[in-house]
Amino acid sequence: MEEQQKSSHVVLVMVTFQGHINAALQLATILHSKGFSITIVHLELNPPNPSNYPEFTFVSIPDNLTESQLSDKDIPGLVRSVNKNCAAPLQQCLEKILHSHHHISAVIYDSFMFCAQPIVDDLGLPGVTLCTHSALGLLFYHVFPQLNEKDCISGLESPELQALQLQGFHALSSQNPTEAGMEVGAAFANALKSSSAIIVNSMEFLELEVLSKIKQYLPTPIFIVGPLHKLAPTMCNSLCTEDNKCISWLNKQAPKSVIYVSFGSIVNIDKQELIDTAWGLSNSKQPFLWVVRPSMDRGSEWTESLLNGLEESVGERGFIVKWAPQKEVLAHAAVGGFWSHCGWNSTIESICEGVPMLCRPFFGDQILNASYICNVWKIGLELKNLERGNIERTIKRLMVDMEGNYIRKRAMDLKEKAAFYLMEDGSTSCSFDGLAKHISSV
Ligand code: UDX
Repeated sequence: MEEQQKSSHVVLVMVTFQGHINAALQLATILHSKGFSITIVHLELNPPNPSNYPEFTFVSIPDNLTESQLSDKDIPGLVRSVNKNCAAPLQQCLEKILHSHHHISAVIYDSFMFCAQPIVDDLGLPGVTLCTHSALGLLFYHVFPQLNEKDCISGLESPELQALQLQGFHALSSQNPTEAGMEVGAAFANALKSSSAIIVNSMEFLELEVLSKIKQYLPTPIFIVGPLHKLAPTMCNSLCTEDNKCISWLNKQAPKSVIYVSFGSIVNIDKQELIDTAWGLSNSKQPFLWVVRPSMDRGSEWTESLLNGLEESVGERGFIVKWAPQKEVLAHAAVGGFWSHCGWNSTIESICEGVPMLCRPFFGDQILNASYICNVWKIGLELKNLERGNIERTIKRLMVDMEGNYIRKRAMDLKEKAAFYLMEDGSTSCSFDGLAKHISSV
């Protein structure tokens, strides 16, 4: 009994962003159902609610971060601060867990929390990286920097994927990364080198070619365990309060008529874009549900008056909330399109519900995801020009034109594939069994 207890304790280190918290807690829930006991180590900023998970032990470490840093556009700078500020407290925390009699089978850490790997190396513990982005993100940020242009497309059969790789390769080589970007990239790559395994919240059939390409260059075992939100669907991990009134409003709308608009948990939007978004939605004459987080405009006072004016002019046709129960919204019969920033969680949630997308990526992996959506899976349109007339036209192309019908059909086909993949006694459960075995044996 003691032996079993000893071999089954996992520590999961997570970061402070909504999309990352969701994936970490979903993974922890599934591992717990497979017999692992779980300690969650989290930062002080944006803590999860322990009462939702009485079966886990929660430990908080000081992060020295402020709310305002979270709404900063400098993500590499923020990630660098997280790792600098948290390395020493994380080390103490893991030592404490070890000393207080717990054996630790593995430390699974969010890929943004790469300071964990040298610490676990020091302590003689196995580290496992959790990627809350796609396998394509892994390829771009960790394999591509080692390759030349020819290597980056070799072995890929799909011309769309080749084009995406080339476009990304050139973008990466022409980019002048910031000092923080270079530091973070190098630390991330180093952590991966000694990580004993990589976990990715994706579905194998979505990324087959990319996965085989990664395997050519990265010897580390990769476990594809998504879609985590479907496998551990019952929890609410929202950091903000979900406004459920939007569901009653959706209940009154015609099937597939509503465009749902949300830019995730960290994106900021400038004044002109917010105004054009409001007018584009208003002029499109489509019903819309729009999430405007209070921090999205960096607390500008004029937003409220803009939104009040918009609500007055569109009346019952529009509904604005500060935070929505997104998974329920996407699954609602009235929702016919998702205008998104293309965060990976939003992307995978939309795929699982067969909702076609309007893509407005802002930074990082969102740009790769948008390219996947529009050019490879062809289940969305990219919104390149953010002027209100173009917004209005693109909403109509997606929601009412024949072009939108074709895109919707492909989105529904992908949803069916995802449902089949989940039902199959195949990939995901094998991956979880493999992961459980790996953790118990390292
Ligand atoms: C961040 C990065 O922006 C993204 O690029 C990366 O892929 C993951 O980390 P975030 O901006 O939070 O993520 O976006 P996303 O990954 O889409 O996650 C947002 C989560 O919040 C989703 O699970 C979504 O269902 C949830 N959400 C969002 C709500 O529950 N309600 C809302 O109103 C908006």
